[in-house]
Amino acid sequence: PQITYTEHDGATRVVEGNVGDSVMETAVRNGVPGIVAECGGSLSCATCHVFVDEDDLDRLDPMSEMEDEMLYGTAVDREDNSRLSCQLRLKDGCDLHVTTPETQV
Ligand code: FES
Repeated sequence: PQITYTEHDGATRVVEGNVGDSVMETAVRNGVPGIVAECGGSLSCATCHVFVDEDDLDRLDPMSEMEDEMLYGTAVDREDNSRLSCQLRLKDGCDLHVTTPETQV
């Protein structure tokens, strides 16, 4: 699946991801800026915050209670379309578009 990452300033990159990987891992592996992922995906840092395109929201797995709680600790305030990208697994045929916040720390 293709993941489109848009930075706060509008710069956009499209990356081909592997099914089963997370949106965070795919960004880090491809040098996409805007996702820090301090904890490496263990749901304890909230520095992998992204805003998911409204059209893609309902295709994602629902968030866990833990993710929901962590989203209150993001550097840039959460919005209705906020998710932690380490929790977003790529699915076959499910392209996604996410926007990264101005800062993660
Ligand atoms: Fe730390 Fe996602 S990488 S919560």
